[in-house]
Amino acid sequence: MSTFDLTRLLAADHFSTALRHDVQHGLTSEPKWLPPKWFYDARGSELFEEITRLPEYYPTRAERAILTARAGEIAAATRARTLVELGSGSSEKTRLLLDALRDLGTLESYVPVDVSESALAAAGKALSEEYPGLAVHGVLADFTTGPGLPPGGGPRLVAFLGGTLGNLLPAERAAFLRRLRAALGPDDFLLLGTDLVKDPDVLVAAYDDAAGVTAEFNRNVLNVLNRELSADFDPDAFEHVALWDAEQEWIEMRLRSLRAQTVKIPALDLPVHFDAGEELRTEVSAKFRRERVAEELTAARLRLAHWWTDDEGRFGLSLAEPV
Ligand code: SAH
Ligand code: AVI
Repeated sequence: MSTFDLTRLLAADHFSTALRHDVQHGLTSEPKWLPPKWFYDARGSELFEEITRLPEYYPTRAERAILTARAGEIAAATRARTLVELGSGSSEKTRLLLDALRDLGTLESYVPVDVSESALAAAGKALSEEYPGLAVHGVLADFTTGPGLPPGGGPRLVAFLGGTLGNLLPAERAAFLRRLRAALGPDDFLLLGTDLVKDPDVLVAAYDDAAGVTAEFNRNVLNVLNRELSADFDPDAFEHVALWDAEQEWIEMRLRSLRAQTVKIPALDLPVHFDAGEELRTEVSAKFRRERVAEELTAARLRLAHWWTDDEGRFGLSLAEPV
């Protein structure tokens, strides 16, 4: 028999307090910005899944190719009893790790952690049906602020896939890695997926697809604000912008106001004015080089034990251990 349970560790007032705080802070900053975690309501999670199937969005396919080739090695190196996954979403690629750990005979439980309850519930239910004998403990939590790592028998393999680390700003990344490191036991491992620096045309196309799915994903954050804070954003009054910042080596997604407008956010008693052409930053997606990954891991007292890429060198997968 397999089991699935879901623990809600998001504060009960997550949407009221945390979202209000982020919106108040970000929309009164110059330039305006919002943290990307607010993309992921049920619709946002669906749109992200659609993105992963777009011809231009190579990271998911590249990371899947690495996992297909290396899951056996990862299982043998870690002998994990518990697989924890941060920002697990649909847990689609995770099946490759679960299969390898199950085949090795060490796997007991899978602990997906995500802010999207719809994605977490759907993935948890599906996996508990697909993997008889596996205990699936879903955790609804914010991995940047939530309590440390959920409990689970060691050795634990903590997977952070998809390149989601790149959606944190450099200082947030450093704090996140230090905190994660502090929660790891000596036999635990971190499996980290990072998208790599490459031709800017390829990068920009991945964030500005011809079908407009990424544009819809980007604008969806305005729907979240309308629903949760009774704001009156007109998503059609904003255009999707994706650009490569060569200095920071990150993709930036923005929403550009098509006209001068003032948006009301009654829940905050906040009128927000946008000039025509003014931009709101909604996401950074940092792209890495191997040395930078190794340096950031080292700064968090983690050692890069294995580094794998896909054949085309588009995406990196690191296996790191505490030092
Ligand atoms: N790992 C999957 C999904 C990546 S999409 C893949 O590789 O395809 C990013 C996921 O992280 C989404 O499911 C989103 O809901 C989740 N997420 C984003 N910010 C988060 C945060 N601060 N805490 C927890 N989950 C977060
Ligand atoms: C989840 N994260 C790694 C995605 C990325 O590529 O930065 C989110 C995304 N944004 C636009 N497209 C996909």
